[in-house]
Amino acid sequence: MLLETRKLTIGYGKPLVRDIELSLDRGELLLVMGPNGAGKTTLLKTLAGLLTPLDGHIYIDGVEVTHNPKSVGRYIGYLPQLSLYNTSIFPITVYEFVKNAYEIYLKSLDIRLSKNEIVRRVAEVLDMVGIDRELWGKSIWKLSGGQRQRVLLARALVHDPLILLLDEPFSSIDPEGRKVFADMIIDLKRDKLIILTCHDPIILVNQSDNIMVIGRGSYVIGKPGEVLRDEILRKFYGDSIFGVEKHIHIYDFHS
Ligand SMILES: Nc1ncnc2c1ncn2[C@@H]1O[C@H](COP(=O)(O)OP(=O)(O)OP(=O)(O)O)[C@@H](O)[C@H]1O
Ligand SMILES: [Mg+2]
Repeated sequence: MLLETRKLTIGYGKPLVRDIELSLDRGELLLVMGPNGAGKTTLLKTLAGLLTPLDGHIYIDGVEVTHNPKSVGRYIGYLPQLSLYNTSIFPITVYEFVKNAYEIYLKSLDIRLSKNEIVRRVAEVLDMVGIDRELWGKSIWKLSGGQRQRVLLARALVHDPLILLLDEPFSSIDPEGRKVFADMIIDLKRDKLIILTCHDPIILVNQSDNIMVIGRGSYVIGKPGEVLRDEILRKFYGDSIFGVEKHIHIYDFHS
């Protein structure tokens, strides 16, 4: 198994969700759903080694990494939730943003590459996510939300990690762009494990191997058909959910 957790308890001082048991492998897609404040971002940050779990264990490739966040970086690409990004940070171009991340990664593992190799990889990954070359010299804070989301994906991918943690990658992308982004994720899934949070499971439900719903301190995980059922979702979402024919719609009430 590529990623496993045992009795993982996440939260900030006080537990948000307890005893999370995951067992996930390459080539899999896990969708994580749940109401605002449920702990989706907290789970991703904990798996990325950015937050210390309150209890339990995390294993990557069979090796315990729970208290060794540095060892996790090689394996993980993390796309943060866009709204958590502060747009007032100093200006940096699209190209530099991805290159800096790559250089920091290489330095942390003491890997020496030539300038040309670095340039080639940064260009390759920016091309892969569909960022036109004319945007490479632009400040990332002057891009549209959807363009910025692609650049953040490029940054998460630049070191070719086996595990991709994508926190609401579709949030600021229009419906047409969502399809393109979803296709990109399906393509990446072939040789990676992807864990993706989203509020609308419809976009990727047919490609997801498992769905996890978290909320109110607990969680459920299983095949989409087992989890996306009215009685289960109602437990986590209360009355903000209703089914129309075969489609399930979830309404989020952002404050
Ligand atoms: N740095 C922090 N310190 C303390 N509590 C936090 C911190 N960050 C988030 N929280 C709290 O932890 C809970 C879970 O937050 P989290 O961001 O994981 O939710 P989420 O499921 O990602 O929600 P959303 O759908 O809004 O993104 C919330 O109640 C939030 O207020
Ligand atoms: Mg979140």
